[in-house]
Amino acid sequence: MEFQGGPWISQRKTEFLSFLRWHWEKFGFGHFLAILKSNQDPIGIFSLKYINKNPDLKVDFPDLGFLLKPQSWGNGYATEGAKTLVKYGFKELGLTTIVALNYPENKSSTSVLLKAGFRRVGEDEINYNGHNLGGCTKWLCEKP
Ligand SMILES: CC(C)(COP(=O)(O)OP(=O)(O)OC[C@H]1O[C@@H](n2cnc3c(N)ncnc32)[C@H](O)[C@@H]1OP(=O)(O)O)[C@@H](O)C(=O)NCCC(=O)NCCS
Repeated sequence: MEFQGGPWISQRKTEFLSFLRWHWEKFGFGHFLAILKSNQDPIGIFSLKYINKNPDLKVDFPDLGFLLKPQSWGNGYATEGAKTLVKYGFKELGLTTIVALNYPENKSSTSVLLKAGFRRVGEDEINYNGHNLGGCTKWLCEKP
């Protein structure tokens, strides 16, 4: 669970699932399951979401996230998925800016964000629905 704030206890799982459902119903987008075309194997999750449940507290722009099964790392899947979701956000959802947050030591995530068109804008705290996950780098990607 490196870079994901540690193991998830069941209360957090329940909170997360209710947040996931709430987000889709409110905004019409949220978390997506990534499936390999070749064998239909689920390999991970990509997300575009406001990261605070209370809309008054939400960060200004939706946040891009990705988490893949370790067995599927190193094949370019995260880059492919991140680029696809960014394009979808701008073209289909009419977004103008997408934010991303990662830990500075997360080199592969940084590489994915750079290739998906994000630029580093500073440091911030990851506050995911009330759970403070510590200091991180903040990234932005603007509609071309
Ligand atoms: C981050 C994550 C999604 C990347 O998945 P992936 O499918 O392996 O990513 P890709 O293959 O598309 O690209 C990884 C890139 O990072 C690079 N990379 C990997 N490890 C690296 C390291 N230690 N140092 C520098 N670059 C590294 C790869 O070379 C590749 O770049 P390249 O295509 O220019 O060679 C995956 O590692 C993961 O799920 N990690 C745990 C969850 C997580 O950290 N999510 C991000 C939170 S913001």
